[in-house]
Amino acid sequence: MVTILGIESSCDDTSAAVVRDGVILSNVIAGQAVHERYGGVVPELASRAHQQNIVPVVHDALKQAGIPKEGVSAVAFTRGPGLLGSLLVGTSFAKGFTAALGIPLIEVNHLQAHVLAHFIKEDENDRNQPDFPFLCLLVSGGNSQIILVKSLSDMEIIGQTIDDAAGEAFDKCAKVMGLGYPGGPEVDRLAKLGDPGRFTFSKPRIDGYDYSFSGLKTSFLYFLRDELKEDPDFIDKNKNDLCASLQKTIVDILMDKLCLAAKELGVNEVALAGGVSANSGLRNALEACGKARGWKIHIPKFAYTTDNAAMVAITGYYKYLDGLFCEPDVVPFARVSMQ
Ligand code: KG4
Repeated sequence: MVTILGIESSCDDTSAAVVRDGVILSNVIAGQAVHERYGGVVPELASRAHQQNIVPVVHDALKQAGIPKEGVSAVAFTRGPGLLGSLLVGTSFAKGFTAALGIPLIEVNHLQAHVLAHFIKEDENDRNQPDFPFLCLLVSGGNSQIILVKSLSDMEIIGQTIDDAAGEAFDKCAKVMGLGYPGGPEVDRLAKLGDPGRFTFSKPRIDGYDYSFSGLKTSFLYFLRDELKEDPDFIDKNKNDLCASLQKTIVDILMDKLCLAAKELGVNEVALAGGVSANSGLRNALEACGKARGWKIHIPKFAYTTDNAAMVAITGYYKYLDGLFCEPDVVPFARVSMQ
């Protein structure tokens, strides 16, 4: 029996999870409301909040799993990418915990973990995992990538954003409309009440499978600036239609490249990952596309879309099986690629 404690602290969620033989036993996440009033994550405050949260979060995860700390086989932690001060908290905790118990330490790449969230089993009979190769659209506040997943450890980024991430596009446009932070979930909520065909925003022309979202943000900003000159209440009067049209544009941009990649590479198994995969418009678009093109699709549970330690624990589980442990002098990295 292999029991992995996963630790995630790369941005503004402190999370701990326990996975036993690939099956999830607990996944505890403490968010950080402190950033809301600043309209974005403040790194210094994130590190402090991780310091406050990490011990109670790990305690809860072990308690919910019904596992004493002596029952943990190894600790997997997010090494990067992320905010350095935040990563240091989880890394240091994992080092201390493993040193005290004399068990292995396993470093995990946050992006690889988002993809491997699809391999978390809800119970022993769960057989919903993707088959290789599959394409994974990883969309979050910091990343927008199309990844060709050839095996649990062999992943190739075939396309990625050259500027803003999709989550940033949601959040920055939401901010312009005076919505709270992070704006993505609020845009999603209001979009359900609006007309997606009401406004049209420009889409980027980028070669290959890469993305760009900075132009959309600028065109959205200029469009509002012009409309507000005519009518100062334009945003309030049109919020639902603005959100629906914005969401449709972002989803169309994401899906166009994903469809192109699937077609050109002849892959017909497609998965979503990352915070933006919680978006209802994106989920619906993938489902519709899957039906039309005969794809087998994989949409993660909400709990595994945003940052969570369950995905770190499952990645750690497979690295444990391969004996991929790290030394106690390991240091976190703010920026690492998957390759
Ligand atoms: O993966 P994640 O939790 O972490 C970071 O990359 O920081 O992703 C967070 C991002 C934010 O930009 C947030 O606005 C976006 O995911 N997000 C959404 C939705 N839920 C979260 N965007 C659109 N629609 C949603 N329902």
